[in-house]
Amino acid sequence: MRFRRFRDTQTQSERSQKGKDLKPASACTFSDMKKMVLERVQDVASLSKEGIPEEYIRSEDEQPGSTTVQGGVLEVPTIDMRDDQDEEKLLRAIVEASKHWGMFQVVNHEIPAEVITKLQAVGKEFFELPQEEKEVYAKPPGSQSIEGYGTMLQKELGGKKGWVDHLFHKIWPPSAINYHFWPKNPPSYRETNEKYAKYLHGVVDKLFKSLSLGLGFEGHELKEAAGGDELVYLLKINYYPPCPRPDLALGVVAHTDMSFFTILVPNEVDGLQAFKDGHWYNVKYIPNALVIHIGDQIEILSNGKYKSVLHRTTVDKEKTRISWPVFLEPPSDFEVGPHPKLVNEDNPPKYKTKKYGDYVYCKLNKIPQ
Ligand code: OGA
Ligand code: NI
Repeated sequence: MRFRRFRDTQTQSERSQKGKDLKPASACTFSDMKKMVLERVQDVASLSKEGIPEEYIRSEDEQPGSTTVQGGVLEVPTIDMRDDQDEEKLLRAIVEASKHWGMFQVVNHEIPAEVITKLQAVGKEFFELPQEEKEVYAKPPGSQSIEGYGTMLQKELGGKKGWVDHLFHKIWPPSAINYHFWPKNPPSYRETNEKYAKYLHGVVDKLFKSLSLGLGFEGHELKEAAGGDELVYLLKINYYPPCPRPDLALGVVAHTDMSFFTILVPNEVDGLQAFKDGHWYNVKYIPNALVIHIGDQIEILSNGKYKSVLHRTTVDKEKTRISWPVFLEPPSDFEVGPHPKLVNEDNPPKYKTKKYGDYVYCKLNKIPQ
């Protein structure tokens, strides 16, 4: 039922955006295809040398040129995972960062640098393929799943667009993977992504364990409450082409991630911003670090002890920024709510318990949770 609802709503909103009926992909004419292709920001960017189309110009209260704190980067906590001679100190650092920042960077995480470099190389190669080759992986119109190559998750209020294209596909567990959305070119794409997924488990488990202990639970309890072995690793590649007006446009608009938490690999081009104490700050790029975002589901599960972080991205005038977030999330029919051990008469639940798929549906359609 829920999936029907997804499909119907999306189709309707897409219809009203374009003022025409959507046809199934197989019925698309060449001119439809061309229109679809021209919607990609990568194409818009290659045609925009001076200015940018109106729909990419943010409202004044969002324009990064005037809403970013200048002359300073935000030093979000950097956590050295090799610090585990002092388990207690490492644990405290992760817990404090998750309570007060909702964002931190981890170094010495035991994912070999070459595994990350290769992940970045194959992703970049995919986005540098001719447009028609990428369209083979396009998210089918009206699809109930998020997976595929595409340009935006939802139409924003006011019809504004972000300066970014993306590719989504799951990388874990094997039963959830749909290889249809994994690029076949470059040929090493699959092997490289499988290797990255394998190495990610260590970081995921360590973070869940620390966050669990930080709530006064046994080390294994939080991951279990998050779906255990069913936990889904959803990879996204964000591709932000150079933009002639980085002062006026945004890549990804302000949001909190819906996941439990997100583990993100950026390239060396700055662009991530976090909202702290009422202001937008650039987050410092640290080579080989992973950026961790606490997402909505951990905030919910912890009944508000850990906080998801509001963040957004800016774009660069000359350089292409690319990032690889992996969203750790439950299967869509899995229920998430404040953990029973954290709720009693003195501590009532601050959030509803609901299926993750329903949470996503409400958030994407801007319906109160
Ligand atoms: C996202 C996101 C940040 C980045 O895709 O949810 O926040 O640095 N990306 O690209
Ligand atoms: Ni995000």
